[in-house]
Amino acid sequence: MEIAVIGTGYVGLVTGVCFADLGNNVFCIDTDKEKIERLSQGEIPIYEPRLFEMVRENSERGRLHFTTSLKEGIEKAEAIFIAVGTPSGPNGEADLSQVENVAMEIARHLDHNAVVVNKSTVPVGTGNLVARLIAENTVHHPEVTVVSNPEFLREGAAIFDFMNPDRVVIGTDSDTAGAEIAQLYRPLNCPIIITDILSAEMIKYSSNAFLATEISFINEIANICELVGADINEVVHGMGLDKRINPAFLNAGVGYGGSCFPKDTLALVNIADNVGYNFKVLNSVIEVNARQRFRVIDKLLTEFRDLSGKRVAVWGLSFKPNTDDIREAPATDVIIKLLEMGAEVSAYDPVAGENTQKILPDIEYASDSYGAVKGAVALLIMTEWNEFKQADIKKIKGLMASPIIIDGRNIYHPREMRELGFTYYGIGR
Ligand SMILES: NC(=O)c1ccc[n+]([C@@H]2O[C@H](COP(=O)([O-])OP(=O)(O)OC[C@H]3O[C@@H](n4cnc5c(N)ncnc54)[C@H](O)[C@@H]3O)[C@@H](O)[C@H]2O)c1
Repeated sequence: MEIAVIGTGYVGLVTGVCFADLGNNVFCIDTDKEKIERLSQGEIPIYEPRLFEMVRENSERGRLHFTTSLKEGIEKAEAIFIAVGTPSGPNGEADLSQVENVAMEIARHLDHNAVVVNKSTVPVGTGNLVARLIAENTVHHPEVTVVSNPEFLREGAAIFDFMNPDRVVIGTDSDTAGAEIAQLYRPLNCPIIITDILSAEMIKYSSNAFLATEISFINEIANICELVGADINEVVHGMGLDKRINPAFLNAGVGYGGSCFPKDTLALVNIADNVGYNFKVLNSVIEVNARQRFRVIDKLLTEFRDLSGKRVAVWGLSFKPNTDDIREAPATDVIIKLLEMGAEVSAYDPVAGENTQKILPDIEYASDSYGAVKGAVALLIMTEWNEFKQADIKKIKGLMASPIIIDGRNIYHPREMRELGFTYYGIGR
């Protein structure tokens, strides 16, 4: 199939490269000239496992193309995917300006029949808005069907998730368009749910809100565990054996970050507000999450009343492992707080240092985990990269000014760390 993907970010690029890999001819379109130039030269602007190899291979096979021209990119497209950003607006609502701009551009340039597929996460009703904008502004009057096809991939495992989805959701009131888009996903051998557009849009927000709720729930249980002397890992193990409870997402820590859960939970609260419904549970989930990241600082303050002039090491800057994405990363807020308290921060992340440096230029960036802990009075672990799990703990102890670890992701075992001579704090243990 001839496919165009508008927006070549984490979702658009992965979508484009995976569809190309499945044998389609794909144009990836973005207004960011530098991004498109780099991609055209085989350079990948983001870190995502397997992406580099797949972009190179599919470009070489002549079925993956990059352009800044929407007109050129959609010239032959039978399916046009919209994968632009939908960041939070001032009141938590999803800012739809990028989606609206794209709809207007499609209206201007599309001169043949096509299915427009909305992959961006958008409030309920946006599919209909896109259809209306195209219909009202079309220049060439082709037949256009708008379909909702929310994306569920996780950064850090994006290629794997796209190719091995738990389900594909397609929202449409057109049997033909639904079948056409479903056909694209047939090789993935997964359940394909075809539903109405509004329900498809709601599925995406409800899924993210539920996952965020699990995280805030287990973090609150962890906080209570600390007060009563229980161990959150034991608790989750016991809970997870109940067939009704899936323990996969019950990891206590410093809370969720990233470009999806924070903005999508706010957007769903806003969607509910707009129809006069107070989504109490989700409001609490957001509040709990906002507090949770600072638990590591509370723990640090039980060791040092005053942090001024003290060197604190931070491991992990991305919002989760295997990505360079630092949007809403807990580490950023924690570092800002540490600096406000007068601490000196030395940080290390396997891939997210460069992105963090753009917003926090005045801290020290080490080139490896050992460099970061040199002379530090404490180490805060903010992202659970495998590299940290495999670090030489004895070497770390030798490098630190005082052997204190505050493990915001529970990657180490408390007893083992104490036996090695560390003062160790986990979350809920
Ligand atoms: N990142 C994730 O893990 C993830 C997962 C599922 C769903 N989503 C959703 O997918 C959407 C995209 O997310 P992302 O993380 O890929 O965003 P992103 O910010 O990484 O990428 C968006 C891209 O769109 C481009 N763009 C903006 N306006 C454009 C225009 N008019 N024409 C062409 N390109 C334009 C931007 O330059 C940018 O490269 C969002 O709605 C997000 O909520 C994201």
